[in-house]
Amino acid sequence: MNQKYDYPKTRAQLNQLVADLEQIQTNVHQVHWYMRGKQFFNLHPQMDEFNEAFADELDQVAERLIALNGAPFATTHEFIENTGLPDEKIDYGQYTLPELMQRLVDQFRYVRDQFQKAIDITDEENDQPTQDMINGFKSDIDKKIWMLNAYLDQGPFDKD
Ligand SMILES: [Fe+2]
Repeated sequence: MNQKYDYPKTRAQLNQLVADLEQIQTNVHQVHWYMRGKQFFNLHPQMDEFNEAFADELDQVAERLIALNGAPFATTHEFIENTGLPDEKIDYGQYTLPELMQRLVDQFRYVRDQFQKAIDITDEENDQPTQDMINGFKSDIDKKIWMLNAYLDQGPFDKD
Protein backbone atom coordinates (compact mmCIF):
# COMPACT_ATOMS: atom_id res chain seq x y z
CA MET A 1 0.00 0.00 0.00
CA ASN A 2 1.39 3.35 -1.02
CA GLN A 3 0.88 5.40 2.15
CA LYS A 4 1.19 8.61 0.17
CA TYR A 5 -2.07 7.77 -1.58
CA ASP A 6 -3.98 6.35 1.36
CA TYR A 7 -7.14 8.33 2.18
CA PRO A 8 -8.95 6.52 5.03
CA LYS A 9 -11.28 9.36 6.04
CA THR A 10 -12.14 10.14 2.42
CA ARG A 11 -13.00 6.46 1.84
CA ALA A 12 -15.26 6.41 4.90
CA GLN A 13 -17.03 9.57 3.80
CA LEU A 14 -17.45 8.33 0.22
CA ASN A 15 -19.14 5.22 1.62
CA GLN A 16 -21.39 7.43 3.74
CA LEU A 17 -22.37 9.12 0.48
CA VAL A 18 -22.99 5.73 -1.17
CA ALA A 19 -25.54 4.89 1.56
CA ASP A 20 -27.10 8.36 1.45
CA LEU A 21 -27.29 8.65 -2.35
CA GLU A 22 -28.96 5.24 -2.47
CA GLN A 23 -31.51 6.15 0.23
CA ILE A 24 -32.29 9.59 -1.22
CA GLN A 25 -33.32 7.87 -4.46
CA THR A 26 -35.67 5.57 -2.54
CA ASN A 27 -37.19 8.58 -0.77
CA VAL A 28 -37.54 10.60 -3.99
CA HIS A 29 -39.19 7.60 -5.64
CA GLN A 30 -41.61 7.41 -2.71
CA VAL A 31 -42.63 11.02 -3.36
CA HIS A 32 -42.92 10.25 -7.11
CA TRP A 33 -45.41 7.46 -6.33
CA TYR A 34 -47.34 8.85 -3.36
CA MET A 35 -47.90 12.46 -4.42
CA ARG A 36 -51.40 13.75 -5.12
CA GLY A 37 -52.42 17.31 -5.91
CA LYS A 38 -52.73 20.10 -8.43
CA GLN A 39 -49.06 20.19 -9.44
CA PHE A 40 -48.89 16.43 -9.98
CA PHE A 41 -48.10 16.64 -13.70
CA ASN A 42 -45.13 18.96 -13.06
CA LEU A 43 -43.74 17.44 -9.89
CA HIS A 44 -44.16 13.74 -10.74
CA PRO A 45 -41.63 13.89 -13.64
CA GLN A 46 -39.44 16.32 -11.66
CA MET A 47 -38.74 13.50 -9.18
CA ASP A 48 -37.38 11.36 -12.03
CA GLU A 49 -35.09 14.22 -13.02
CA PHE A 50 -33.73 14.46 -9.47
CA ASN A 51 -33.11 10.72 -9.35
CA GLU A 52 -31.30 10.59 -12.68
CA ALA A 53 -28.75 13.00 -11.21
CA PHE A 54 -28.48 11.12 -7.90
CA ALA A 55 -28.03 7.77 -9.69
CA ASP A 56 -25.19 9.19 -11.75
CA GLU A 57 -23.55 10.71 -8.66
CA LEU A 58 -23.89 7.44 -6.71
CA ASP A 59 -22.05 5.52 -9.44
CA GLN A 60 -19.28 8.10 -9.62
CA VAL A 61 -18.85 8.14 -5.82
CA ALA A 62 -18.78 4.33 -5.56
CA GLU A 63 -16.29 3.99 -8.43
CA ARG A 64 -14.02 6.68 -6.98
CA LEU A 65 -14.15 4.77 -3.68
CA ILE A 66 -13.09 1.57 -5.46
CA ALA A 67 -10.27 3.44 -7.22
CA LEU A 68 -9.06 4.51 -3.74
CA ASN A 69 -8.90 0.83 -2.65
CA GLY A 70 -12.26 0.99 -0.88
CA ALA A 71 -15.32 -1.30 -0.85
CA PRO A 72 -18.68 0.40 -1.46
CA PHE A 73 -21.77 -0.70 0.43
CA ALA A 74 -23.81 -2.78 -2.00
CA THR A 75 -26.61 -4.40 0.00
CA THR A 76 -29.90 -2.94 1.20
CA HIS A 77 -28.99 -3.80 4.80
CA GLU A 78 -25.75 -1.81 4.57
CA PHE A 79 -27.54 1.19 3.04
CA ILE A 80 -30.16 1.23 5.81
CA GLU A 81 -27.62 0.70 8.58
CA ASN A 82 -25.40 3.53 7.38
CA THR A 83 -27.63 6.24 5.91
CA GLY A 84 -28.56 9.26 8.01
CA LEU A 85 -31.75 9.72 5.96
CA PRO A 86 -35.21 8.60 7.09
CA ASP A 87 -36.71 5.33 5.91
CA GLU A 88 -40.34 6.17 6.65
CA LYS A 89 -43.43 4.48 5.28
CA ILE A 90 -45.97 7.11 4.17
CA ASP A 91 -49.56 6.96 2.98
CA TYR A 92 -51.57 8.87 0.35
CA GLY A 93 -52.74 12.17 1.74
CA GLN A 94 -50.49 12.00 4.80
CA TYR A 95 -48.57 15.02 3.50
CA THR A 96 -49.70 17.80 1.18
CA LEU A 97 -47.51 18.44 -1.88
CA PRO A 98 -45.80 21.44 -0.21
CA GLU A 99 -45.15 19.30 2.88
CA LEU A 100 -43.64 16.58 0.71
CA MET A 101 -41.40 19.17 -0.97
CA GLN A 102 -40.34 20.63 2.41
CA ARG A 103 -39.47 17.09 3.53
CA LEU A 104 -37.31 16.78 0.42
CA VAL A 105 -35.63 20.14 1.13
CA ASP A 106 -34.72 18.88 4.60
CA GLN A 107 -33.36 15.61 3.19
CA PHE A 108 -31.47 17.33 0.36
CA ARG A 109 -29.88 19.62 2.98
CA TYR A 110 -28.67 16.59 4.89
CA VAL A 111 -27.08 15.24 1.66
CA ARG A 112 -25.60 18.70 0.95
CA ASP A 113 -23.98 18.63 4.40
CA GLN A 114 -22.50 15.20 3.65
CA PHE A 115 -21.03 16.58 0.39
CA GLN A 116 -19.56 19.48 2.35
CA LYS A 117 -18.08 17.07 4.88
CA ALA A 118 -16.44 15.19 2.00
CA ILE A 119 -15.02 18.47 0.66
CA ASP A 120 -13.56 19.28 4.09
CA ILE A 121 -12.08 15.79 4.51
CA THR A 122 -10.51 15.72 1.05
CA ASP A 123 -8.86 19.03 1.93
CA GLU A 124 -7.45 17.47 5.07
CA GLU A 125 -6.21 14.34 3.23
CA ASN A 126 -5.04 16.24 0.17
CA ASP A 127 -7.24 14.33 -2.30
CA GLN A 128 -8.07 16.98 -4.90
CA PRO A 129 -9.51 14.68 -7.58
CA THR A 130 -12.24 13.47 -5.19
CA GLN A 131 -12.87 17.04 -4.12
CA ASP A 132 -13.12 18.12 -7.75
CA MET A 133 -15.90 15.56 -8.30
CA ILE A 134 -17.78 16.38 -5.08
CA ASN A 135 -17.62 20.16 -5.67
CA GLY A 136 -19.91 19.73 -8.68
CA PHE A 137 -22.33 17.54 -6.73
CA LYS A 138 -22.48 20.14 -3.93
CA SER A 139 -23.22 22.86 -6.46
CA ASP A 140 -25.96 20.72 -8.07
CA ILE A 141 -27.74 19.98 -4.81
CA ASP A 142 -27.56 23.67 -3.81
CA LYS A 143 -29.46 24.35 -7.04
CA LYS A 144 -32.06 21.66 -6.32
CA ILE A 145 -32.57 23.11 -2.81
CA TRP A 146 -32.99 26.61 -4.26
CA MET A 147 -35.58 25.37 -6.78
CA LEU A 148 -37.63 23.41 -4.23
CA ASN A 149 -37.59 26.45 -1.95
CA ALA A 150 -38.71 28.69 -4.83
CA TYR A 151 -41.69 26.34 -5.31
CA LEU A 152 -42.40 26.79 -1.58
CA ASP A 153 -42.20 30.63 -1.87
CA GLN A 154 -39.04 30.57 0.26
CA GLY A 155 -35.47 31.74 -0.21
CA PRO A 156 -32.77 29.08 -0.57
CA PHE A 157 -31.71 29.30 3.06
CA ASP A 158 -35.14 29.75 4.68
CA LYS A 159 -35.74 27.22 7.49
CA ASP A 160 -32.14 25.99 7.03
FE1 LIG B 1 -42.41 6.86 -12.87
